[in-house]
Amino acid sequence: MSDPAANAPHHVAIIMDGNGRWAQQRGLPRLKGHEQGAESVRAVMKAARDHGVRILTLYAFSVENWSRPAAEVNGLMTLLPRFLRKHEHLLHENGTRLRAIGRLNDLPAATRKDLFRVMSDTESYTERQLVLALSYGGRAELTDAVQALAHRVRSGELDPEEIQPETITAHLYAPDLPDPDFMIRTSGEQRISNFLLWQLSYAELYFAPALWPEFREEQFAEAMRVYAGRQRRFGGVTSC
Ligand code: FPP
Repeated sequence: MSDPAANAPHHVAIIMDGNGRWAQQRGLPRLKGHEQGAESVRAVMKAARDHGVRILTLYAFSVENWSRPAAEVNGLMTLLPRFLRKHEHLLHENGTRLRAIGRLNDLPAATRKDLFRVMSDTESYTERQLVLALSYGGRAELTDAVQALAHRVRSGELDPEEIQPETITAHLYAPDLPDPDFMIRTSGEQRISNFLLWQLSYAELYFAPALWPEFREEQFAEAMRVYAGRQRRFGGVTSC
């Protein structure tokens, strides 16, 4: 592949949807769909690297997902550390820093343990970033940011008139991350479901028909082709 990064999005965000349907179609428990979905995570990490993507943000567990049956929630909470232990070598081999965004204190201690360990072990890598959205909600993130700003105003540290879009960005969970250029949602659903509400303002959106467990290298390559054909204007006009 010749200079894969030339037209590649710098930051890709993905809503990994359709694990449940994939399992249901096969008469399997939903957790089997999540396990296959974890294989797609591994495949897409590699594909993203090969296409020159530097930041990959994955919606792995939303604030709304806590309302799912306990067995499914517990299954997902043990799948994540298992995945990290099995695949953390990929992060080291590719200079990938693991990060997480969301209300991480909501996660069980056992899940947090491996997550924080791998985040700490990969902290110094600058080549790539894998960002997991866990107990994440866009409205929750904005609410947390507004609360932090309100505290600063109340303490006299910040004047309300000084609040600019950059001030809000500075109070998000990972303020240094550039906005995603491209947002992919699998399974054919066309919603953003409370994902990165602030950060997706100018992202190109792509809705892939494949269910997440079937979304692998080939489907990722197709998404990259679609992105390469898009013209981004950021509210301006295209020069002709
Ligand atoms: C949405 O599909 C998917 C999730 C709520 C969980 C995503 C988790 C994984 C892909 C597995 C592990 C993740 C990592 C980072 C190792 P759904 O269950 O809502 O599917 P449905 O809409 O078909 O029911």
